[in-house]
Amino acid sequence: MSDLRAQTHNFGAGPSPLPTSVLQEAQGALLDFAGTGVGICEVSHRGKEFAKVIKDAEAGIRSLLAIPATHSILFTQGGGTTQFASVVLNLLAYHAQKPKSTTRPTSLNVSPPKMDYVVTGTWSKKASTEAHRLTELLNPHNPTALLNVVANTKPSGYTNLPRREDYNFSPKGEAAFVYYCENETINGVQFPEGTEEEGSFPFDLVPEGTPLVADFSSSFLSRPIANIDRYDVIYAGAQKNLSPSGLTIVIVRNELLVDANDPRTPIPIPEILSYKTLADSGSMYNTPPVFPIYITALVVKLLGETGGLEGKREVNDRKAKALYEALEKGVEKGVVELNVAKEARSWMNVVWKVAGGDEGEKRFLAGAEAKGLRQLKGHRSIGGIRASLYNAVTEYSVAQLIDYINEFVAQESK
Ligand SMILES: Cc1ncc(COP(=O)(O)O)c(C=O)c1O
Repeated sequence: MSDLRAQTHNFGAGPSPLPTSVLQEAQGALLDFAGTGVGICEVSHRGKEFAKVIKDAEAGIRSLLAIPATHSILFTQGGGTTQFASVVLNLLAYHAQKPKSTTRPTSLNVSPPKMDYVVTGTWSKKASTEAHRLTELLNPHNPTALLNVVANTKPSGYTNLPRREDYNFSPKGEAAFVYYCENETINGVQFPEGTEEEGSFPFDLVPEGTPLVADFSSSFLSRPIANIDRYDVIYAGAQKNLSPSGLTIVIVRNELLVDANDPRTPIPIPEILSYKTLADSGSMYNTPPVFPIYITALVVKLLGETGGLEGKREVNDRKAKALYEALEKGVEKGVVELNVAKEARSWMNVVWKVAGGDEGEKRFLAGAEAKGLRQLKGHRSIGGIRASLYNAVTEYSVAQLIDYINEFVAQESK
């Protein structure tokens, strides 16, 4: 490893750090992959060498998350942003086909279903806006009627989670799906892991038979997913914990793999966005993102060899606890502002503000840069500071950040 890399602590929100050992192995494979004399970015995606890579990546993810045989794992492109649309198109198609209706729907003769969105931050808000945009024409007389915002924490500035009594799910049979974002990367808000904690996602309130969709982009493979068989679709951009950007992973219940060309489908699904097309082609309907899938295969292998997701949970828990503890001390001294409610605080993306506004933050970031603590600037939409503690961020890096925070707090509170 270069000296500079060893002295640099990268807290970027995504793309974000990858394990050095994986990058070292990839370095060799860029020139000669699996003894072929051809680099990994130069091999055919239809060749036997890559067939093994994609198989290993899939098997690794399935085993780490204990994904049941009822669900398929798809590798695709376009990021979480494309899934905002894919989810709507595929699940409306599923809803239309499920009752085996014989009438071809038009905007005039069917009453389209609701789409239930839990809005807890920037990304779920964006997803709900896309859902509304795509479906407006289905119900021209009342375009806002399809989107049901089940709960919305915007009034708190996205700093807390809804309480159980805040959820307003559509009645049984009326919604095509329920959607939520497990970890809001920008706002630093995450649902607790279990079902009993304060703020936990209320699985029991989702009406029976309504498909459940979750965006796990920024927490995927950072710990096990409880109730994995309760989800119908889970998706994640891979550029946080798994690979370079360019790969999106979708886990979908097989029952939802419906024909994109069925005449009952209310909005045509572009072939490349159809979950069934992706599943039927083994994620090879078109050229897949070969290099990110290769890196994913190496990362999941490493995860499997180093304690799996239980092991990651322990380490990630320690990292987040230590950082929040240090920040709490800064709060006591009036140097740090931690606005996210305790039960809603993200393990992966820790956000805070520094007293003294822009000037205070500039001082904090300049001092951090000087110590090799990189990519700590908060998202441009909300400002402040954000430290992302993804899997490849070591406890040593977090300790360096904590030392710096302690130093900064001592200095600013003089
Ligand atoms: C939780 C979450 N969802 C969706 C997205 C959008 O992903 P992409 O930029 O890959 O389209 C992001 C991006 O950071 C994210 O963090």
